[in-house]
Amino acid sequence: MQPREFITPAHMVVGSGALEQMGALCRKRGWTKALIVSDKIMAGLGLVTKVEELLGANGIASAAYTGVNTEPVVEYVQEGLQLYRDNACDFVVAVGGGSPIDAAKAIAVLVTNSGSIEQYKGIGKLTLPGVPLVAIPTTAGTGSEATLYTVITDQKTDVKMLIGSPYLMPTIAVVDPMLTLSSPPGVTAATGVDALVHAIEAYVSVKRQPMTDIFCLSAIELISQNIRQAWSNGNNVEAREKMMLGALQAGIAFSNSSVALVHGMSRPIGAHFHIAHGVSNAALLAVVTQFSLIGDPVRYADVARAMGEQVTGLPVMEAADLAVKAIRRLVRDIKIPSLRQLGVERERLLELAPSMADAAIDSGSPANNPRKPTRQEIIELYQLAYDE
Ligand SMILES: [Fe+2]
Repeated sequence: MQPREFITPAHMVVGSGALEQMGALCRKRGWTKALIVSDKIMAGLGLVTKVEELLGANGIASAAYTGVNTEPVVEYVQEGLQLYRDNACDFVVAVGGGSPIDAAKAIAVLVTNSGSIEQYKGIGKLTLPGVPLVAIPTTAGTGSEATLYTVITDQKTDVKMLIGSPYLMPTIAVVDPMLTLSSPPGVTAATGVDALVHAIEAYVSVKRQPMTDIFCLSAIELISQNIRQAWSNGNNVEAREKMMLGALQAGIAFSNSSVALVHGMSRPIGAHFHIAHGVSNAALLAVVTQFSLIGDPVRYADVARAMGEQVTGLPVMEAADLAVKAIRRLVRDIKIPSLRQLGVERERLLELAPSMADAAIDSGSPANNPRKPTRQEIIELYQLAYDE
């Protein structure tokens, strides 16, 4: 076995009520002034004030940037960084879904790495550790609280820049399922499927490793068995707890192995059509899984089993095929809209498909797929996903 790294936050607090411990954890580390990075929805729900109070009760001052109101773009990172400097902060606290956490990650590393975030596009470009970062997710989805990636959109080029570095790993992850109770059904569905895709892709990736396999299978099981309940009744605490745990495990898994073709193809759809990341993943997951099965049917049979399918005694290809059926059923049950339903025009998608295929290949993710696609196959998969 080749030596592999396995990187997680230095400190994780996981479970209902975890938020209450956040202030004391920061005090023990000697931090004195936080920049809180969030959005206006979290501010409206009182969560930003709550975090300010929890910090204040521990003698920690704070300033808040609540401007991350769409997917994270370069401008938000610059605004947040300015506020950090103006207020002489010494750490960052991210509160919200994947967008505020991703923006906060970029802010934290730009305090120490000079220039702008575009310069660090790609993997391993950052040269210095950032300032400490506390990540408090409010959705069970991106797993960004436990990954060494951030995705920042460059609005000038409509490119979702993937930036990866161990320096992007949060110092502390506060994972409190109670914060997801207010998440509306559409968000629960999209973010939950994103987490499922993380777990599936990390499990079948050619970069997988034994340390991540166990996180993948557990996450696939937790998410598949609880997403419908969390979607249909947001106040189902048990389902929310299991979804949050599954999303965290999936984040740890893909951060230490990789994502693959679904994510590679999904980012350009999101950038061009401004569709939520989980929704574009959902549009692609069944057709990409169908395409990929023959690359590693044994692994896909394991995915089917973890999704609750009866695979015992079946020939391996039949068992693997059940993963596609289970995915289609799940996406249908939680009513994730298709690209057509979202108003994407078929001609426009087909027109952009060649350049989206190039962007997908450039991201490196398709090369991690168990069946490596050609550029033409990626173009055809975009069409198949639309026609689903
Ligand atoms: Fe994702």
